[in-house]
Amino acid sequence: MRSRILGTGSCAPQRVLTNADLERMVATSDAWIVERTGIRQRRVVAPGEACSDLGIRAARRALAAANIQSSELDLILVATCTGDVPLPPTASVVQHGLGAAKAAACDVSAACCGFIYALSVADAFVCTGYRYVLVIGSEVMSTVMDWTDRNTCVLFGDGAGAVVVGSTEAECGILSTHLHADGRLSDLIHVPGGGSSLPPSEHVVAERLQCVKMRGNETFKIAVKTMEEAIREAVADHGFGIDDIDWLVPHQANIRILRAVGQRIGLPPERVVINVDRFGNTSAASIPLALDEAVRNGAVQPGQVVVMAAFGAGLTWASGVIRW
Ligand code: UT7
Repeated sequence: MRSRILGTGSCAPQRVLTNADLERMVATSDAWIVERTGIRQRRVVAPGEACSDLGIRAARRALAAANIQSSELDLILVATCTGDVPLPPTASVVQHGLGAAKAAACDVSAACCGFIYALSVADAFVCTGYRYVLVIGSEVMSTVMDWTDRNTCVLFGDGAGAVVVGSTEAECGILSTHLHADGRLSDLIHVPGGGSSLPPSEHVVAERLQCVKMRGNETFKIAVKTMEEAIREAVADHGFGIDDIDWLVPHQANIRILRAVGQRIGLPPERVVINVDRFGNTSAASIPLALDEAVRNGAVQPGQVVVMAAFGAGLTWASGVIRW
C-alpha cells in the first residue's frame, strides 16, 4: 500500500504588489528585480488576514477536489514559518475553521522545505493506518519583511497550497521523499529576534530583528548545488533517469536558480513548473501552490512522474517523487 495525493488546492491573497509599487518603497527597479529574480509581482495579505485564513481556503479547495469531508480527516499538518501566533499551532486554528473535529493537528517548521517535510510525515502516517491527512503549506511572508531592506523585501510573497493524502493500492502515489539539513549554515537565512533566544522588545523592533535577514548571493550558490543533488538522489532511488521526469515542481525562489538547476541536470525548461514571476518566494507554500496550478490547468496527468525539490533556511533541502 502507498499514499497518494487525492486532491490539491491553493489560495493567494487578492492584493497584488508589483515591482513598480516596490520602486516607490526602496531603491530598486523593475528591471533589476526581473533580471535577477524573474519576479514581476507577488501577493500580500490584507490587514488581519492570517496564515490560517489562507490555509483554510486552500484546504477547502483540496478537500473538494478529493471529494473528502473535513470530518473524515485524521491529521492536519501545517507547514509554515509565519503561523498566526507562537501558540497555539496554526494547524489547530485550521482544524477548528474546517470543522475537522476528529483530526489531530500540528505545525511543521522547515522553512521553504516545510511542505515536503510535512508530506513525508503524512506519507508515513497514511502507510501506517491513518485514512486521510491534510497537508498545508501557508505563509504570510509580508509580515516578516523589512520593507526598508531591498535585499529581501522584493523577493517574498504570501500564499497557501494544500493537498489531501490518502492510501492507494494502485501503482501511483508518493514513491519517496528525501529530507536533509545542515544546521552549521543556519544564519544564512534567519529571523534573529522575536523568539526565545531574543524575545520581543523595543530593541528588537527598532532594529527590525523580527524580520528575515538573508545572505542572498551565498544562498544562491548553495541552492543550485543542493537542489541538483536532491533531484539526482530522488530519481536515482527508483532507477529513473532525468528523462523520466515529466514535471519538476521546484521551490520558487528565483528563476535563475531554476534555470541553472534545469541546465545542470539536463531537464528541458518546458518540464519545469514556474510561477515565481506571479507569486515570488512563498516559502513553504510555493510547491503546493505551483503543484495545484499545474494540476488544475491539466499539465500534470495520471501516470506522469512529478519530482518536487526545495531548499531553504536551516539549511534544509528536500525532494519527493510522485507517480501521479
Ligand atoms: O527560499 C530560500 C532560499 N532563498 C534563495 O534561494 C535566495 C537566493 N538568492 C538570490 O535569489 C539572489 O542572490 C538575490 C536575488 C537575493 C540577489 O541577487 P544577486 O545577483 O545574488 O545579487 P547580490 O546580492 O550579489 O547583489 C548585487 C548588487 C548589490 O549592489 P553592489 O554591492 O554590487 O553595489 C546589491 O546591493 O545588487 C544590489 N541589490 C539590489 N539592487 C536593486 C540587491 N538587492 C537589490 C534590489 N534592487 N532589490
